[in-house]
Amino acid sequence: MKKRKKIIITVDGYSSCGKSTFAKAIAADLGYLYIDSGAMYRAVTLFCLRKGFVAGGVADTHNIISALPEIKITFRINYDTGYYETLLNGEKVERELRDRAVSDNVSAVSTIAEVRQKLVALQREIGARGGIVMDGRDIGTVVFPHAELKIFMTASPAVRAKRRYLELLEKGLPADIAAVEKNINERDRIDSSREISPLRKADDAVELDNSTMTVDQQMDWFRKLYKQIMHEG
Ligand code: DC
Repeated sequence: MKKRKKIIITVDGYSSCGKSTFAKAIAADLGYLYIDSGAMYRAVTLFCLRKGFVAGGVADTHNIISALPEIKITFRINYDTGYYETLLNGEKVERELRDRAVSDNVSAVSTIAEVRQKLVALQREIGARGGIVMDGRDIGTVVFPHAELKIFMTASPAVRAKRRYLELLEKGLPADIAAVEKNINERDRIDSSREISPLRKADDAVELDNSTMTVDQQMDWFRKLYKQIMHEG
């Protein structure tokens, strides 16, 4: 039997579009590795918060750059969920990465060129052998510009705020819909307008607006697209 080529699939888009749910479902369908690049930026932000290098959305760029060699981000499989978890200097921090303080400060830390250089290098290393689905903001434009399949996700702001709010409630975290909406809008603004690697659709990315789609509908859409790309259709 012909062995299927293992490709790189990138999923970029705005905050709380359902990127990770969709990317995880794709990875499970294909038997690929799923990597959440946002978790890496969140992990660096958590480190900076603990050190007092970022607060109120303002980053101390000088100290953050100096501390970068001290920050080790690794991944470990969680056999219960089947997904990789992010470790910060060996510590399991999945839960802390979703804290409000991290969400409020991550865009400021993500604008620093040296932070991006470090994380992009790590992302490329992880994806080097293919068979990966990675989601983020610049995965199709900067990290893997030659990826075989690029998806750009959008959804209406109201739908996104509601999804994020429900996700926080589900995790038992404190949630306030107005604060969630404000954070989403603010992150979209910073992520799309920053000088380095701003969030934008790659010219060769396929757009998916999932405002009114279930995960099953998104998967049907994806399977058709994948067949076309792999010339199986
Ligand atoms: O996907 P997320 O919401 O967990 O990402 C958190 C933040 O990290 C996002 O607001 C911007 C930053 N980020 C980035 O700059 N580049 C990426 N590839 C992924 C995330």
